[in-house]
Amino acid sequence: MNLRHLSFPQAPLIKTPPPGPKSRELLDFQAEYEGSAVSYPRGLPMALQRGRGATVEDVDGNIYIDFFGGAAVLNVGHSHPDVVAAALAQVSELTHSLDVPNPARRALVERLLSLLPDPLHKVFFGGPTGSDAVESAVKLAKFNTKRYPLIAFSGGYHGMSAGALSLCSGLSFKEDFLPLIAEVHFCPYAYCYRCPFQKKPESCNLECAHYLEVVLTDPHSGVGRPAAIIVEAIQGEGGSVVPPEDFIAFIRELCHKLEIILIIDEIQTGFGRTGKMFAFQHSGIIPDIVTFSKALGGLGFPISCIAYRKELDTLPPGKHIGTFRGNVVAYAAGRAALDFITDKNLPGHAQQLGGRVIEELKSLEKDSKSVGDIRGAGLMLGVEFVLDRSSKKPAPEVARKVRSLCHKRGLLIEIGGHYFNVARFLPPLVLTEDLADEGVRIFKEAVKEAEDSL
Ligand SMILES: Cc1ncc(COP(=O)(O)O)c(C=O)c1O
Repeated sequence: MNLRHLSFPQAPLIKTPPPGPKSRELLDFQAEYEGSAVSYPRGLPMALQRGRGATVEDVDGNIYIDFFGGAAVLNVGHSHPDVVAAALAQVSELTHSLDVPNPARRALVERLLSLLPDPLHKVFFGGPTGSDAVESAVKLAKFNTKRYPLIAFSGGYHGMSAGALSLCSGLSFKEDFLPLIAEVHFCPYAYCYRCPFQKKPESCNLECAHYLEVVLTDPHSGVGRPAAIIVEAIQGEGGSVVPPEDFIAFIRELCHKLEIILIIDEIQTGFGRTGKMFAFQHSGIIPDIVTFSKALGGLGFPISCIAYRKELDTLPPGKHIGTFRGNVVAYAAGRAALDFITDKNLPGHAQQLGGRVIEELKSLEKDSKSVGDIRGAGLMLGVEFVLDRSSKKPAPEVARKVRSLCHKRGLLIEIGGHYFNVARFLPPLVLTEDLADEGVRIFKEAVKEAEDSL
């Protein structure tokens, strides 16, 4: 499959060390007039001009290989021509419709349902962010069960609105804003590199999942019967953490047994990212509710929705509303993107290319002292940095240094993880082998230089 023409041919190309003078001017303007909570340009100081495929150009003419992908939004790549054409055609037709039906909306719903397993037969569009999809999923679960408690997981990320933030484990996001919604309980995720039970995945017998069962069944666990369990089938912001296959299947079974609604958050993993169309498919399960956003809007047009079992469809009209309940341009773009993702089998491509990237990264395990773990699924990958491999003491400063050195050499990466010590790769799924290889080469060089300088 030829995807190379979608990206800039010259990538990577550094003409002026970033941030160049034009970037600096825009960064200075932003610092002067925008809020102090702006974050990404602090780690990747530059201003962007245009993007193509798996590459982006800054305003100073530097061209980067993009392993960041707009935080898992740009699965079909920047400015994909089919998606641009679909969006442009829609802009001159109709752009806003609240939740009044229109042909573009119907086409996206049909496409989405054609990709989902049968019992997930209803789609609901709320506000345009992933956080809003999480809010609506939780409301639906509470309304149906008439229960209040929720179970979420350590390392989980679900968004920034108060309800979604309550479900995030990261204290740096939430501790200044407590209390949030009550009765959210956290259980350990199957983060095998840092197993809280000090077990090894080969012999742990899924102790973390059994612990969850104890929490849900022991009358003295202190946790009331939950309305829902919300979980990422593969964790994103938590550090590209892939649990053993049986972990999610165990939770599914438990939810069946205890009549708890299972919400799988596919906002980051959806639409081919992890090597399957949806990450829950790695475990062979079907959730009760699934959340979608990010790549659903094709090129970053804002949209989110949930899909769920028909029997949960009980919310009376108006129980979850908002001005931007879907976005007509996003419907058209999303439909065109989903067509491209399926026609070109981008999940399969992500699976194959991700495997190649992991193989290429493997040499770091012996050549570098600060790489503790290399992991991921499809094109959602993570490299966890530690001060030394035996203590596993997190090394966020190495991750930051590597990100900065990659940037200077023409590669964009993201940082995440419990300790912000995981380099994360979320490239557009139209990444090609040559760009992937060059990106890995730059990354390895950056790791070496970061280690030499510390
Ligand atoms: C798994 C997951 N859920 C929810 C969200 C929140 O989405 P948004 O930032 O669009 O509100 C994110 C964002 O990164 C996410 O990764």
